[in-house]
Amino acid sequence: MGPDDTLCWCFHIPKRKVVNFARQRRPKRASQLSECFGAGTGCGWCIPLLIRIHREVVGNEAVEADDVTAAQYEAMRAKYRADVAGGVRRKNEYGDAETRGPSGGKA
Ligand code: FES
Repeated sequence: MGPDDTLCWCFHIPKRKVVNFARQRRPKRASQLSECFGAGTGCGWCIPLLIRIHREVVGNEAVEADDVTAAQYEAMRAKYRADVAGGVRRKNEYGDAETRGPSGGKA
């Protein structure tokens, strides 16, 4: 996933905008990234990635290489939304791969 790929599909926010917002504002909590054009306040799909970005940028943790393409990320969101709509899982309920990040939790 590149910096100009969409991070939050609900509000069409590119990853670069959120990363720059985090670098400039250095919010105390990951949830404050929602002040960046509402990121994460729609379907909730992008929240694990917002948390990772917050950890990496504000928490000065090592930046992981993204090994998920933009198309894979979008497809994963489509499945998440279908699962939520179908009652398979609740909103903001993520699988292991989604919460650990695309590199499988290596941080
Ligand atoms: S993709 Fe970000 S809230 Fe839906």
